[in-house]
Amino acid sequence: MPNASDDLFTREDPIFANKELLEINHLPGEGRIVGRDDEISNLATAVNPAIFGQSPSNVLIYGKTGTGKSLCAKYVSQRLVDTAEEEGVKATFAYVDCAQDTTETQAVQTIADSVNDPALTSIKVPDKGLSTSTYYKRLWRILDALYDVVLIILDEIDKLSDDDILMQLSRAGEAGKIAGCKLGVIGISNKIQYKDRMDERVKSSLCEREFVFPPYDANQLRDIMDARSDAFRDDVLDPSTIPRAAALAAREHGDARKAIDILRYAGEIAQSTGANIVKEEFVTQARQRAETDRFRELIRGSTPHSRYVLQALAILSLSNQKKDGFRTSRVYEVYENICRQQGSDSLSLRRVRDLLKEHAFLDIIEQSKHSGGSAEGSYTKHQLLEDPDVVKDVLTEDVEI
Ligand SMILES: Nc1ncnc2c1ncn2[C@@H]1O[C@H](COP(=O)(O)OP(=O)(O)OP(=O)(O)O)[C@@H](O)[C@H]1O
Ligand SMILES: [Mg+2]
Repeated sequence: MPNASDDLFTREDPIFANKELLEINHLPGEGRIVGRDDEISNLATAVNPAIFGQSPSNVLIYGKTGTGKSLCAKYVSQRLVDTAEEEGVKATFAYVDCAQDTTETQAVQTIADSVNDPALTSIKVPDKGLSTSTYYKRLWRILDALYDVVLIILDEIDKLSDDDILMQLSRAGEAGKIAGCKLGVIGISNKIQYKDRMDERVKSSLCEREFVFPPYDANQLRDIMDARSDAFRDDVLDPSTIPRAAALAAREHGDARKAIDILRYAGEIAQSTGANIVKEEFVTQARQRAETDRFRELIRGSTPHSRYVLQALAILSLSNQKKDGFRTSRVYEVYENICRQQGSDSLSLRRVRDLLKEHAFLDIIEQSKHSGGSAEGSYTKHQLLEDPDVVKDVLTEDVEI
């Protein structure tokens, strides 16, 4: 007869009590969002008019990765919907990940499908097969049939292939597409230059309010992790593990996602090595894994040329000992070679400069200005901040998909 002591399986997770709290898609509840009071209250003020029947302001949120943009946008939208309901206002919000739904048609389909209630509207929103304009028509009908106000979160808005949907959404009311329903758009991007690329008309209506979310400092990261420490069983977390993870994550990026990932991985390392304590020393190894994940996530959905530019820098970094970076012209040469190998036309030097700037904003690379003296003028050097091997691995694994 088997008994508990010679059981083949462990019946209880020795480390995690509630691991979901540390999973990527977990949406923390009230009281677990730390250090974003101002941002939350600013966002709430911008969309507040919806509750008394006026149009919410359209908002654009910028900030580096892991600064809580998606989280706060969803949180405020949900709170708005709840409060509206208490006031007898019919409200909802739709969330679009534009890295996934890059085309206008896909994005409209996602919005229409997510706000629809076919039992009430008798309107069908098939996954595909309709023209873009038909999806729009159905969306407008659904909105007018069901809601007084709708917020649409366009996350990673810079990944949209063009501005057309922004034009449609931001003008729907005044163009008479929807009669009673008010519509607000919350656009989110981690590319500060995104706005420069936007059509002027879209810019003026979409960017009524703009907010920038700053990176977290070590104290805030520690609070964020502390607020989730009940993911672990009592007494398995070494008291110095969270402070150490917070210090590392703050020094590098101030990225809450990375901090939480480090904590989860440290727990998994304890699990897989049979340790009964999540020791501080596991943080180093966990950090490496989190770094690779972070980079993969950062470049998710980015254009091939944006990747070629990084690949060029990774190649240069791996084949040179130079520590202070590479000049734009040198990066451009290698980039052109990569384009040739890929059978793709290269972009202009100016566009490549812009791409480098975007990478710098995301802290993937660092740029430094140099003066070459009167003969040469000044120039910029670019250096990878990510480990070049990580960059190369992640970029090549992606190509194979
Ligand atoms: N203030 C916070 N309190 C608690 N958890 C947070 C906070 N900020 C971020 N997080 C958590 O960190 C992770 C990253 O946050 P979020 O997805 O909102 O970042 P983001 O700014 O949208 O990043 P990206 O630009 O990469 O999309 C999420 O798991 C989120 O729950
Ligand atoms: Mg996000």
